[in-house]
Amino acid sequence: MSKVTVVGAGNVGATVANVLAHNDLVREIVLLDIKGDVARGKALDSWQQASVDHYSTRLVGTEDYALTANSDIVVITAGIPRKPGMSRDDLISTNAKIVSAVTRSIMEHSKNPIIIVVSNPLDVMTFAAYQASGLPKNRVFGMAGILDTARYRAFLATALDVSPKDIQAMLLGGHGDTMVPLPRYTTVSGIPVTDMIDADKLDAIVERTKKGGGELVKLMGTSAWYAPGAAAAQMVAAIVRDEKRIFPCCALLEGEYGQEGIFLGVPVKLGTNGIEQLIELNLNEDEMALMNTSANHVREVLEVYKSMDV
Ligand code: NAI
Ligand code: 2OP
Repeated sequence: MSKVTVVGAGNVGATVANVLAHNDLVREIVLLDIKGDVARGKALDSWQQASVDHYSTRLVGTEDYALTANSDIVVITAGIPRKPGMSRDDLISTNAKIVSAVTRSIMEHSKNPIIIVVSNPLDVMTFAAYQASGLPKNRVFGMAGILDTARYRAFLATALDVSPKDIQAMLLGGHGDTMVPLPRYTTVSGIPVTDMIDADKLDAIVERTKKGGGELVKLMGTSAWYAPGAAAAQMVAAIVRDEKRIFPCCALLEGEYGQEGIFLGVPVKLGTNGIEQLIELNLNEDEMALMNTSANHVREVLEVYKSMDV
């Protein structure tokens, strides 16, 4: 049975811990935050839910990295979320320092964890954690694609009046407005989505998906947490259960999709060893152009990170 640490006990981190506890899959979850009492409070609250909802996973809240020792998986959600009017990229100056420092502290107490990054700007923060950890690329990756496809699937489910469970979809690129939902790789129980919905409606759904995070920030004054937390927990579960599930995740590209030295969303297989396979789709010219645009955007933010002293 595994030990999981979730760094950042805010909206997303607390949700990851709570969803994961409900899966009753791991022995212990350590919820760590610089605000130790908040982490202790949320861990205690979740633990007191255990007898009601029937799970045995222990939850511990702390600000002390010693308690994270020998974690198998670490989910990093520490940092600030965006406010209305901000893009995810505006968070870089604060979050790059936090993510790098958190990763170094984690590595002092766990030799070979798998790290899943959630903090934004996601693709560059995943790069920062990869660099600060010194871990191999299969053990450091980011959560965004499951969330972005979940939004796409939700919008499609509403438009088609079907269950979101029956919509399968793939999405590429950075976690930002240049992300690349792929209608050609979207089906409703195996039926091509393009056979089920008019092109203009599908285009509108793709556009809404790209701005799906911003839509929620406008509504709530901060970014989302239920779907993001559940998405990160789903990645943890796939690893703990060695499920070999295929998800869009933020992974290091070394030549794949014509990209080098950049973290971007691509389909990967998740199992015990983290990323066990990176899948290269056979993209058409239009899809490749969108992927390149997205990569160029992430690269600009990456350059800002590289010029920082973290
Ligand atoms: P939040 O403000 O609710 O929680 C962040 C927590 O991080 C706070 O409790 C804060 O005390 C803690 N923190 C700050 N610095 C820390 C440090 N050095 N060590 C430990 N803990 C520290 O924010 P929320 O909504 O949970 O979002 C967290 C991050 O996740 C944001 O950067 C947000 O943009 C990002 N996000 C990413 C998504 C994705 O798809 N990748 C989806 C949703 C949010
Ligand atoms: C989201 O997409 C802000 O990245 C966060 O909800």
